[in-house]
Amino acid sequence: MFRCQISARGISALGVFLLGTACAPSQSTGVPSSGGAAGNSAGQSNSGGKPAAGTGGSPGEAGAGAGPLAGSAGQTAAGGSETYLTPSEPPQDEDGSSLWLRYPKVPLPGRLAEYRAALNHVVGGGDSATLEAARAELVKGLSGLTGAELPVADQPTGDGAVVLGTPKSSSLVQGLPLVDQLAKVGAEGYVIQATSVGGKAAIVVAANSDVGVLHGVFGLLRHVASHRTVNELMLSSAPKIQRRVLNHWDNMDGTVERGYAGKSLWGWSSLPGTISQRYLDYARANASIGVSGVVLNNVNANAQILTAQNLDKVAALATAFRPYGIAVYLSARFSAPIEIGGLNTADPSSSAVRQWWAGKADEIYGKIPDFGGFLVKANSEGQPGPQDYGRSHADGAKMLSDALTPHGGVVMWRAFVYSTEGSDRIRQAYDEFKPLDGSFGSNAIVQVKNGPLDFQPREPFSALLGAMPKTPLALELQITKEYLGADTHLAYLGTLFEEVLDADTHANGPGSTVARVVDGSAHGHTISAIAGVANVGMDADWSGSHFNQANWYAFGRMAWDPDLSAKDVADEWVRQTFSNDPLVLAPVTGMMMDSRQALVNYMTPLGLAHIMGTGHHYGPAPWVDDQSRADWNPVYYHRADQTGIGFDRSTSGSGAVEQYSAPVRDQLASRASVPDDLRLFFHHVGWDEKLSSSGRTLWDELVHRYSTGVDAVATFRNQWLSVEGRIDARRYREVTDFLKIQHYEARWWRDACLQYFASVSGHEIPSGYALPAHDLNFYKDLSAKCPSDATKPRCNDVYTGEPSPAVLP
Ligand code: GCU
Repeated sequence: MFRCQISARGISALGVFLLGTACAPSQSTGVPSSGGAAGNSAGQSNSGGKPAAGTGGSPGEAGAGAGPLAGSAGQTAAGGSETYLTPSEPPQDEDGSSLWLRYPKVPLPGRLAEYRAALNHVVGGGDSATLEAARAELVKGLSGLTGAELPVADQPTGDGAVVLGTPKSSSLVQGLPLVDQLAKVGAEGYVIQATSVGGKAAIVVAANSDVGVLHGVFGLLRHVASHRTVNELMLSSAPKIQRRVLNHWDNMDGTVERGYAGKSLWGWSSLPGTISQRYLDYARANASIGVSGVVLNNVNANAQILTAQNLDKVAALATAFRPYGIAVYLSARFSAPIEIGGLNTADPSSSAVRQWWAGKADEIYGKIPDFGGFLVKANSEGQPGPQDYGRSHADGAKMLSDALTPHGGVVMWRAFVYSTEGSDRIRQAYDEFKPLDGSFGSNAIVQVKNGPLDFQPREPFSALLGAMPKTPLALELQITKEYLGADTHLAYLGTLFEEVLDADTHANGPGSTVARVVDGSAHGHTISAIAGVANVGMDADWSGSHFNQANWYAFGRMAWDPDLSAKDVADEWVRQTFSNDPLVLAPVTGMMMDSRQALVNYMTPLGLAHIMGTGHHYGPAPWVDDQSRADWNPVYYHRADQTGIGFDRSTSGSGAVEQYSAPVRDQLASRASVPDDLRLFFHHVGWDEKLSSSGRTLWDELVHRYSTGVDAVATFRNQWLSVEGRIDARRYREVTDFLKIQHYEARWWRDACLQYFASVSGHEIPSGYALPAHDLNFYKDLSAKCPSDATKPRCNDVYTGEPSPAVLP
C-alpha cells in the first residue's frame, strides 16, 4: 500500500485538501509482519505510517487552525499548555450507558473559557426531524461540555453562534462562501468552519443534506470533547464507503447469536406501538460514528420477519432510525416463499417464486420507502439456498437483485460457505464464488468475511477480496468477540480491522489494499459496502463490557474512513469515554493497542486457528477430534503430530496459497518469507525447526508466545491500576474485575494448550517458563462444566492461583 506522511492539515476523507504529502509504496504485501514475539507489546500494536490526526480536527477530518494534539508526556491538554489536575475525589459513578456521548464539563479553565466564548448559542438550521436531532444533540453536548445551557436562536445574537444547516435549509448557510468545500463532501459529509455571520464570530456546521449536518454536529462534538482548540476551526470529512452497516445476529425470540451483551434491543412484542428511548440512543450512537444501516435480524434467518405484521414492526424501527440517517435492512431466508408464501418451491428459476419476491419487495417499500435491502446466508451451515434446486449463488442473488433494483435496494449475498465434501475449508468460498464473478445482478454485493476461515483472532485476509473485479465486494468484520474473549477480555479490534484494511491484495497491482477493494476504487465500482457483526444488547453498557464499546466505535469510524489508524481511533475513543488526561490516555490507549496481539499470543499464536471449545467457542480445546465433520475439529486445523504442527497450505499441501495474487502467494508459500504470525496457518513445521526471527525452535517459540501473552495481561492490570481515581470508581472496578478474569483465562489457555501440545510432541516446557498449573485431564474435564452460560461465559475452576509470571524472572 501507499503510506503517506502528512506535513500539514491532515488528510481529508475524500483525499482532497492534501498539502505537502509524501507518499511512497511500502514493502507490505498485506500480511502481518513477523512481529509478535517480543514480550507484551508484540508486533501488531503499532499503526506506524498511517496519517496522524494532523494539525486539525479528529482523525479522518481535513482540518486547519487547531493546535497539535498532546503527546503522552505530561498532563497537557490537546493543543494547549494547561494541565489536568488529579480530581480531589473520583468522578461520579457511571454505568457506561452514555457510551462515548458523555459530554462532561471541560476541566481546563482556559479551554473552557475559549469554548464559552466561541460556542454559546445554537442557530437554526431548519425543521426536519434530522435537523431537530442535530440541534438537540448540539445543545445537549455543548451544554454539558461547557457547563452552561445553550439557547437556540434564529439568528446569531452575538459572537459565539454555532450555525447549522444546508444551503437549502438555512439562508445563513446559503450566504456563506462554502460552495467549493461543500462540493467535495458529497451527500453525507460535512464542513465545519470558523467564520463570520452578519459580522459576528460564528462556527458553521454545513452540509449538502440534513444527515450531513448531523454528522457534522457529531464531528464538532468529538472535537470539543477531545478538548481541541476551536480557534480558526476548519474541518471537513466525507465517508469513503457508501453503506456502513451493522449486522445484528438477533433472533425474533430476543436471543442474540454470538451475543454477549444481553438480550436483543428489538422488542418485537411491544413494536410497533412502543418506541423506546433505547432505540433512539442506539440510532444516535450509530450516527455519531457514521453507521448508515442496520440489518435487524440474524443471518440464520426466520422467514417470519417478512410477514405483513412483522414488517409493520420493522417499519416502526425504520421510522425511529430515519432521522439519524440509518436505513433498515433485513436478512432474508431463501425459502421464505415456501414458509410464508404458500409456494411449494423457492427455485429462483420459477416465475412464481420470482414474482413472490418482487411482490414482497413492493410491499416492503410501500411501508419503508428507504429500505436498504436484503442480506442473505444461503447454502451455508444448513441454510436453504439456490443450490437446493441446482442453481448457483449468482442465480439466487440475481433473483433478489431484480426484485430490489426498481426500488434502489441492494442484496448483500454472503460468501461464507463451506461444505462437507470440500477440500481444505479455507479454499471453498473462493472456489465457489470466483467463477461466478460478474453474474450476480446489478444491485448485488458479495459480502466476504475478513479471513477465509471464521473471524479468528488472526487470519490472513480472504483470498476472495480482490479476486472478483466485476462484483462489488463488502467486507464483513465481526465486532462481537465470538472467538476473542466474549464479554470479558480486553481485545481492541481497531488493530485487527486496520490489519485487514491495509492488507495489499495486489489484485490490481500494488496498492490494491482491502480498503481500496471495499471502497470500490480498486475496480471502479460505484456501489460499496462494509458490514460489522454487532456487539450490542440490552446490557446497561450496551456491549457487555466498557472496552467492547470501543470495537463498535472503531467499526463505525473505520467504515467511514478505512484509512484511519487504529491508534488515532483508540485515542479519540478514550478521550470521549474515559478522560483526556494524558495520565489516563497514555496507559489506556497503550493497553488497547497491545491487547489483540496479547490475545493472539495466549490463544492462537504463530498462525494457529480454531482450537476453541466446540459450539460456544469459549476456552481452549485443541484436543477435540470427535466431531462428525472433520472441519469442526480443532485437530483438523492444527494438525499437530509427533513431527510438527500446522496446516500445509503451500503448493505441496492444500494449495490454498495459490488463490492469492502472485506477490502474496509467493510470500505465504515460502517458509522463508511467511510471517511468523501466519506460519502455522500455511505450513506444517517441525517442532525442532529453528525460526530465523528469534533463533528459537518452533516448540520454544510456541511456549514463549503463549507465556508472553499471559504476562501481557499482567501488564494491562498494572497499567489500569494507574488510572484509579482519575475515572469513576464504578467503571474502574468493573474493568479491573474483567482484566482479572482475562488474566486467569489467558493462563488457562496457555496451560491447557501447552499441556496438550507437549503430550503430542513429547517436548517439555523449557527452563525459564512456568509449568502448567494442572495436568491435561484437568483441562479436558473442564469442557463438561464451562461455560454454564455461553452468553456470559465463565469458568470458575480456573480462577485460582497466580497467572503470572509465565515467563519466569
Ligand atoms: C460462525 C458462527 C455462527 C454464524 C456463522 C455465520 O460460524 O459461529 O454462529 O452463524 O459464523 O457467519 O454465518
